[in-house]
Amino acid sequence: MTPGIKPLIAGNWKMNGFRNSLKELQAMGEGYDLVMRNRLDMLLCMPATLIYTAALSAVGSHVQIGAQDCHMNAVGAHTGDISAMMVADCGGSAVIVGHSERRTDHGESNETVLSKAEAALRNELMTIVCIGETEDQRKSGETLKVLEDQLSNSVPNDFGEGKLVVAYEPVWAIGTGMVPTVEQIAEVHNFIRDHLVGRFGDSGQAIRLLYGGSVKPSNAVELMAIANVDGALVGGASLKADDFLGICAAYGTLED
Ligand code: PGA
Repeated sequence: MTPGIKPLIAGNWKMNGFRNSLKELQAMGEGYDLVMRNRLDMLLCMPATLIYTAALSAVGSHVQIGAQDCHMNAVGAHTGDISAMMVADCGGSAVIVGHSERRTDHGESNETVLSKAEAALRNELMTIVCIGETEDQRKSGETLKVLEDQLSNSVPNDFGEGKLVVAYEPVWAIGTGMVPTVEQIAEVHNFIRDHLVGRFGDSGQAIRLLYGGSVKPSNAVELMAIANVDGALVGGASLKADDFLGICAAYGTLED
């Protein structure tokens, strides 16, 4: 946790979910609105097919709906892509850029991720820029060097208050059940905070830093208590309301 920062728990449904899965979203919204909305922000990043319906179903609740990627251009001949403007048009208020699955599956470079982040911010979307090292990079002691490169080259210079979020997601922890130690996460999050403060001063101090990679209800309290961890980016455990609300409940435990 960082004093003065409202935590964010963001779900990433990846390529999962059909219209009938929105009942889970509804249950998440009900649980969130009932007891949690003063403590944290909740965001669900849906597959593109569900953004509009999810945004409609979230009207009246305080849950935010977002996308998992966007193109750097507003419109044009880019078959299969969606733009940040389209996300906003569908009622989305946020987007993830640079997730390691996009960097790997679609060969996205830091420069591509930067352009996408800039496009998202131009459209006033909350923009979650993901960074993280592979297992090989960690084993060869390159973690901080890789993260420095990703931070310097994929995090934009201009962003509005509260609009930029950085998510640290070690690639080897995503969907594997493996989680770095508390010390490893603390080291990286302090490193990211120092980079952002060195670059942006007070605005860098206010940027939310999420941890992502095998976050579950059973480890959320331990992970969310780490200094400079201001929430989580959750994949698998964001698909079911019980799991996702279980992770959010960590903040009740931390405050009580
Ligand atoms: P996971 O995914 O929670 O399933 O490990 C995290 C992510 O990719 O954001």
